[in-house]
Amino acid sequence: MKIIHTIAELRDHLAAFKHTAFVPTMGNLHAGHLALVRQAKPLGDVVVVSIFVNRLQFLPHEDFDTYPRTWEADCQALEAAGCDVLFAPSERELYPEPQGFTVQPPTDLANMLEGHFRPGFFGGVCTVVMKLFACVQPSVALFGKKDYQQLMVIRRMVQQFAMPIEVIGGTTQRNDDGLALSSRNNYLSPTERQEAVQLSLALKAMADELRAGETDLAALENRAMQALEARGWKPDYLTARQRSNLQPPSATELASLLANSGLVLLAAARIGNTRLIDNLEI
Ligand code: PAF
Repeated sequence: MKIIHTIAELRDHLAAFKHTAFVPTMGNLHAGHLALVRQAKPLGDVVVVSIFVNRLQFLPHEDFDTYPRTWEADCQALEAAGCDVLFAPSERELYPEPQGFTVQPPTDLANMLEGHFRPGFFGGVCTVVMKLFACVQPSVALFGKKDYQQLMVIRRMVQQFAMPIEVIGGTTQRNDDGLALSSRNNYLSPTERQEAVQLSLALKAMADELRAGETDLAALENRAMQALEARGWKPDYLTARQRSNLQPPSATELASLLANSGLVLLAAARIGNTRLIDNLEI
């Protein structure tokens, strides 16, 4: 695996390849990232993974400074997973001057759910992903489905800017108990770690209620939030949305969306100081 820190060297190296498959990450890699790398392998003649903790997508009170940076372990894991090129630019390399040009995602998609609770987050994500795409010029880019809204926002960006990149979503990887893998799981105390699985269980319970014929979505969502609150969580949202656009479905659309696998249940909630997200397509 070749490790590259500058855009110039990356361009030079990648000039020899026709189809680049790209997995952008912020490091602290887990089995979810590595599954994306393996999925990328047959999709290009070279697989590039980037590690860059992107300041632009963190709010001032969030965990940019403490975000886990695990360089040695990440390099070893990437090498074993078959990564060909690790692109790890410094902040000065990627943002040599304050990033004045930014990507502003459309409000209908980016100001709800994660964007509502983390204003500016998707603008920061789109700006860095646009810039990484400009550096790597991939044919294919892979993102985990755990960040469901992020995947949709990036798909829409690529489509609206007519970028010649195929965006592929990778299945969420889970621990044996069902907890979705996330770099932020590292923040959990042992007790919180045991409790954390309740987020995915809450989504499953919502799915069961919908399949059993519940049509009052507001009541369903309230019950789910209250059940988590009673266990000590601070939920931001637990909600049923249309997969196509993340808009709330109307009660009349619900049955046909359910019959056609057109729904996704999304959740974000804080346990202790750690904010976890998860989702379930149904
Ligand atoms: O999902 C992530 O790890 C980040 O949001 C991404 C896509 C690498 C952009 O910084």
